[in-house]
Amino acid sequence: METKIFQPFLLLFLAISIPCLSDASHEEHARKTMEEFSGYPADSPPHHYSFSPSSLSVDIQGLQRQIEELSSFSDAPAPAVTRILYSQKDVLARRYIKSLMEQAGLSIHEDAVGNIFGRWGGTEAALSAVATGSHIDAIPYSGKYDGVIGVLGAIEAINVLKRSGFQPKRSLEVIMFTSEEPTRFGISCLGSRLLAGNEELAIALKQAVDGKNISFLEAARSAGYAVHEDDLSSVFLKKDYYFSFIELHIEQGPILEEEGIPIGIVTAIAAPASISIDFEGNGGHAGAVLMPARNDAGLAAAELALAVEKHVLDSGSFDTVGTVGVMELHPGAVNSIPSRTHVEIDTRDIDEERRNVVVNKIHQSAVRIAENRGVKLSKFKIVNQDPPALSSNSIISTMREATKQLNVSFKLMISRAYHDSLFMARISPMGMIFIPCYKGYSHKPEEFASAQDIANGVKVLALTLAKLSAE
Ligand SMILES: *[C@@H]1O[C@H](CO)[C@@H](O)[C@H](O)[C@H]1NC(C)=O
Ligand SMILES: *[C@@H]1O[C@H](CO)[C@@H](O)[C@H](O)[C@H]1NC(C)=O
Ligand SMILES: [Zn+2]
Repeated sequence: METKIFQPFLLLFLAISIPCLSDASHEEHARKTMEEFSGYPADSPPHHYSFSPSSLSVDIQGLQRQIEELSSFSDAPAPAVTRILYSQKDVLARRYIKSLMEQAGLSIHEDAVGNIFGRWGGTEAALSAVATGSHIDAIPYSGKYDGVIGVLGAIEAINVLKRSGFQPKRSLEVIMFTSEEPTRFGISCLGSRLLAGNEELAIALKQAVDGKNISFLEAARSAGYAVHEDDLSSVFLKKDYYFSFIELHIEQGPILEEEGIPIGIVTAIAAPASISIDFEGNGGHAGAVLMPARNDAGLAAAELALAVEKHVLDSGSFDTVGTVGVMELHPGAVNSIPSRTHVEIDTRDIDEERRNVVVNKIHQSAVRIAENRGVKLSKFKIVNQDPPALSSNSIISTMREATKQLNVSFKLMISRAYHDSLFMARISPMGMIFIPCYKGYSHKPEEFASAQDIANGVKVLALTLAKLSAE
C-alpha cells in the first residue's frame, strides 16, 4: 500500500433450507451442525446446512494457478508485478477476474470507476448482502499476493461454499476495488473511498491528472468506465448497504510468521495522516555565504525530521509511528546552500486523538523552526487525515468461532497498514483476516504466502461468510 511512485499530482486526500433428506436418526446431527454454524438455536423452522466445517475444501492448486496467471498481467518481468490503474494490463487482469466470477456463477456488475461486484443471490435477496473483497492493482515491481489473495481467495471461498452444497440466506458479494494503491493519481483506496461516499474526492477526481497529464476521466474511459456520466457520485453506496464487509489479506508484517500463527483477526486499522511541507530560504554559495548569514532550508527540514521523531516518541505509545519518507533539497548541489526543501511526513496511530496531537505538534515545530532559522514555511498541507477503523465485535466473534471450528489458531492484531476495509468501515460493519507472509515482505517481488496459509485463510473466510449470511 501507499507508495507514491509517478509524481502523484493530487491528494487531499444465508439459509435456504436445504431439504433435509436424512432420516430421523440423522436429524439430530444435522441440527447440531446448524447450531454450530449460526450460533443460534435451531428452533422451528429449522434450516439445515448440508455441510459441516470439516467438509470445506479449498482447491489450493487451482487457486495457485490463478495467482500465477493473474501475475502474468504485468508491466514488469516476473517475478515482479507492476499493474497500474486502467493500464492495458489492468484491463486484461480485470477481464480475468470477471471470467473467474462468471465461472463461479456470480452475477457481475461494475460501477463508473470500475469497482467490480460479483453477487451470489441469497434466498432472502431483500436482506443486505455480506461482502468480501480486496484489490488487484500492484505498485511498480511489487509481488503477487498483496490484495490478490483477498480477491481470488474470495472467489474461491464462494466456490468452496458452492461445492459444499451451501445456500446463502443473505446474498454474498465479492468486490474487486479499483486502485487501492495511489500509484497513478496519488489517491489511495480510490474505489473504496468513493463507495463510502467521499464527495470531495468525486469532485477532485474530475480535475485529477496523472504524471503524464492524462486526466482521470480520460484514463477511466480508455478502460471502458465513466462512459455515460461525469458524475462519480453514482458510485456512492448508502450506509449499511452491506450487512458486513470482510477482507482477507496478507499481513505485510512478520508477526504471524514469527509466532507460527496461521490466522490474524484484525481488531482495528490504524489511522493514517500525511503532511506535505515546503521551506524556502535564500540559498547561496556554499563557500561564500558565512554561517551567520544563512537561512538554510535543508537544515530546517532536517530539524523538522528529528522533531517528528521526538513528537511520535513523546506519545508514549508504541502504536504511534511517524516517518519522513520524502526530503528533497533544491537545487541539490554539493556547493549550494539548499534554497528550498520539500518534506513529506506519514504518521499513524490506532488512537485518532493521539495521532492528531502529533500532527499539531509537527505543525508547531514547522512554524517555530522556520522562525528560528529565518526561512519561510511556504507550505504546510495536511494531505489526508483519516480516522482509524474498529472491526465489528460481532464479526470478530464470528471469525473466532470459524477458526475454532476449523481447528486453526489465531491472534488478535492491529492492521498498521491501511486497506480498503478502512473506508468500507464507514458504511458497513467490517472485519479483516490476515494470513502470514514470508518475512513480512510486501510491495516487492519476494512477497510470498504459502499454499497452506492461503488455504487456511480462504476456509476461515468461507465459514465466516456462511455464518454471517445466515444471520
Ligand atoms: C477439528 O478437530 C476436531 C477434534 O479433533 C474434529 O472432530 C473436527 O472434525 C476438526 N474440524 C476440522 C474442520 O478439521
Ligand atoms: C495538461 O493538459 C491540459 C489539457 O489538455 C493542458 O491545458 C495543460 O497545459 C497540460 N499541462 C501540462 C503540464 O502539459
Ligand atoms: Zn493491499
